[in-house]
Amino acid sequence: MKRSAGEKALEYVEDGMTIGLGTGSTVAYTIKKLGELVKGGLFITGIPTSLQTKKLATDCGITLGELDDHTLIDLTIDGADEVDSNLNLVKGGGGALTREKIVAYHSAREVIVIDESKIVRGLGIDFPVAVEVVKYGYLATKKTLETLGCNAELRTIVGEVYITDNSNYILDCEFGKIDDAETLEKNINCIPGVVENGLFIGLVDEVIVGSTQGIIIRE
Ligand code: A5P
Repeated sequence: MKRSAGEKALEYVEDGMTIGLGTGSTVAYTIKKLGELVKGGLFITGIPTSLQTKKLATDCGITLGELDDHTLIDLTIDGADEVDSNLNLVKGGGGALTREKIVAYHSAREVIVIDESKIVRGLGIDFPVAVEVVKYGYLATKKTLETLGCNAELRTIVGEVYITDNSNYILDCEFGKIDDAETLEKNINCIPGVVENGLFIGLVDEVIVGSTQGIIIRE
């Protein structure tokens, strides 16, 4: 299902485009297929949203550029951890949320590729909201985040504190069902020490869902 969604997104790609390349196992299928098209003569410039994606895209032979040199991206293809009926998202399971959100914000079209397990009745029920924070004072930042109604946990990977591509920490914040994601997104980002959070509100144009029934497109 991830593969079929990831590869379907190639239908949105046109020669000459600047394309934001998201992060995660679903969009990895997009990137690999894009690499095949590039080998066949397609010319695009990819803007990677993480070091992981930069490596994958380079290995696939995709020409890469910097966001600062391509401030209006034609199309971005990315994954998500949760998608609600308004096409709002929780992202950040892979820790790349800040670069992903910057790239999404500067994209003319944002296409999300997921398998059907990512469709949810409400954001926050099954997945924490990842919040990237600077290291300085992170325990104070965590305390303040918790006043917004969550339990916040410093992300670790096999016993080591996880460090983002921007050299920051991630606090995974369990809110339970989020009723007003738009307000919460803003309130989180008002706390000093917060770099960005994984709520993507009003940024998405289409969601391609790989399901047992085949591909479903939500616009
Ligand atoms: C990366 O930080 C995330 O936002 C990913 O896009 C998200 O976790 C989706 O990943 P998968 O496609 O691997 O499920």
